[in-house]
Amino acid sequence: MIDRLYLCAAGVSVLLDLRDADVRLVHWGADLGEQVPDATALEPSVPHSASDQPAPVSLIPQASRGWRGTPGVTGDRGSRDYSLRLVLQDVEADESRAVLTLSDEAAGIRVRTTLALAPSGLLLIDNELENTGEGDFRLASLDTSLPVPAHATEALDLTGRWAREKHPQRRTIDQGTWVRSGRHGRTGHDSTLVIAAGTPGFSWRSGEVWALHLGWSGDHASRVERAGDGQKVIAVGELLHPGELVLAPGETYRSPRAFAAYSGHGLDGVSERFHEWMRARPGHPSSPRPVVLNTWEAVYFNHDLEVLRQLADAAAELGVERFVLDDGWFLGRRDDSAGLGDWFVDPDVWPQGLTPLTDHVVSRGMQFGLWVEPEMINEDSDLARAHPDWISGPGDRRSLRWRHQQVLDLVNPDAWQYIYDRLDALLSEYPISYLKWDQNRDQLELGHDGRSSTHEQTLAAYRMFDALRAAHPGVEIESCSSGGARVDLGILERTDRVWASDTNDALERQTIQRWTGLVLPPELVGTHVGPGTSHTTGRTHALSFRAITALFGHFGVEWDVRALTDGERKELGAAIAFYKANRALLHSGRAVRIDRPDETDSAYGVIAQDVSEALVAYVALATSPDEAPARLRIPGLDPDRLYEVSPGLQIDRHAVAHRALPAWFDAGSAAMSGRALEVLGLAMPGLHPEQAIVLKLTAV
Ligand code: DGJ
Repeated sequence: MIDRLYLCAAGVSVLLDLRDADVRLVHWGADLGEQVPDATALEPSVPHSASDQPAPVSLIPQASRGWRGTPGVTGDRGSRDYSLRLVLQDVEADESRAVLTLSDEAAGIRVRTTLALAPSGLLLIDNELENTGEGDFRLASLDTSLPVPAHATEALDLTGRWAREKHPQRRTIDQGTWVRSGRHGRTGHDSTLVIAAGTPGFSWRSGEVWALHLGWSGDHASRVERAGDGQKVIAVGELLHPGELVLAPGETYRSPRAFAAYSGHGLDGVSERFHEWMRARPGHPSSPRPVVLNTWEAVYFNHDLEVLRQLADAAAELGVERFVLDDGWFLGRRDDSAGLGDWFVDPDVWPQGLTPLTDHVVSRGMQFGLWVEPEMINEDSDLARAHPDWISGPGDRRSLRWRHQQVLDLVNPDAWQYIYDRLDALLSEYPISYLKWDQNRDQLELGHDGRSSTHEQTLAAYRMFDALRAAHPGVEIESCSSGGARVDLGILERTDRVWASDTNDALERQTIQRWTGLVLPPELVGTHVGPGTSHTTGRTHALSFRAITALFGHFGVEWDVRALTDGERKELGAAIAFYKANRALLHSGRAVRIDRPDETDSAYGVIAQDVSEALVAYVALATSPDEAPARLRIPGLDPDRLYEVSPGLQIDRHAVAHRALPAWFDAGSAAMSGRALEVLGLAMPGLHPEQAIVLKLTAV
């Protein structure tokens, strides 16, 4: 058998050492070029009080190979087979893909790991474990673990809560294990999009970074670990509950796919690999992302046909292209305490069904979208009264309610079929182009037939998405989960965008969107202009700040636009027109996040793949310690081309804190080479905090 494998794509190399019938990831990082080193040159010495031979960590870390950190696979058959020694049996490989089969014949376990290096340089890892022995094998974990080099000294992960998702946390990688576990039965508001390690001070534009994401919408853990011998790994895997995964002889467990991005130039390089890979997927949304109006913050549960028609009229006049009817349309749903599960249009509110509204929306040239929450059930619903046993939980006891609701046991085939039939009927009866698919609670203690079922429930939900998409291929789906609690590449395999957060406060959104964008390209992230005073924070923001914040995503409006002043209507209409004129660029270009000297302001943008144009936002987040802001240096342009820079949207004069704008603003534009823009930058106006401007750059 060959004793090493070398994969290479887009400036990334992966070197696997296959000697000793093991698989060790010797290198995942910068391109090593043609002269691939001999792995023996990298073998460490043997310290005192350690195993008698060097113990570089295996791709599936095991105690039987000398690893003293978290094992890559755990499980047992009662008192036997608790520690595996996996031996390489077979290798299939080409330049971009390796399939490695390992087994422990005595324990009756076979593991197949597939590493695929995509053209974007994103490394995709799939693991399968098969019980080839006799008797049941109780699988406790099967993780993807990737060693990172010693000079990766800092870790980054994200955390959050409702209406405040995706906030970064950084730490030094000290000895020990830093684990971010999510036991929410959904991805979770606090789930980290990536677990990353990097060189000291790595930033958006500088440093080496190794980042790992798990494409899974159920319980999961991400960790960074530094063992006593100095070896470091980043790892992700599904969190399995006791007794949840018992593999009968011949049965296989497939781990969720892990996605690994290496960058030699900061976090932007990580995003580039993810964004490019996602955009190359056959199912990636390809039509221009339509301007959305969502009714939630406009009317909440107060559904009234006449009001909604007026809202649709006002939306259409502004240039909205998709009108989404949010929560409140189905049987008994007058507030959030009842109705989930009864997916029939409520005749008390909609005596003629939804047709009078859908007809109106369609006649105004807009698509119609509908809110649903198929995985949930209210105890106050006809469904729960008819099938109390369809509520998921630990046997005879019910789990705690959360937003007055319980989880529907989709592992039960009858419950699954009922939901499928109801959604299929609605999608067949009405001209629905879009589902806002919500999921509003942590799914704790999930159980089916007395057995823990988080894993099965996640797969059952996935099957529901897949079956409905197959039956209604034209319908787009948004993954919403009390805002951004289900944002991962597992759900994005079957949905077309995510709702990043329930907060439409533009200041909060600056952070949430920036970090959601670490993995997701902007066209997949719903970003709405909310009312002047945010419903979630009580902060009041200028429309220009709200609109510029919403621009860098899949733009929408979530506001009662019937009541706009003339000025607001004009300004919002102009923002919508600007979004439409620039969405092709916004949704295909390279994301750039500019490292600024301090955290009181922020700048970011999108640069066309051919570097012919760009849009850049400059945002004042807080008062600056300096009287004048640092010049805006814009990296990533063509150094040798000249760019004309001009304000993209008219500047809101109230946003300007200084006596006068920089002269070039008054002149209307500036011309600078890409090199000068990167090295010197452009003078920026002093803005009041929580204000923004957007610049358009065009190569001349
Ligand atoms: C939570 C969502 O995130 C909101 O946008 C809204 O759809 C409500 N649920 C409706 O109940």
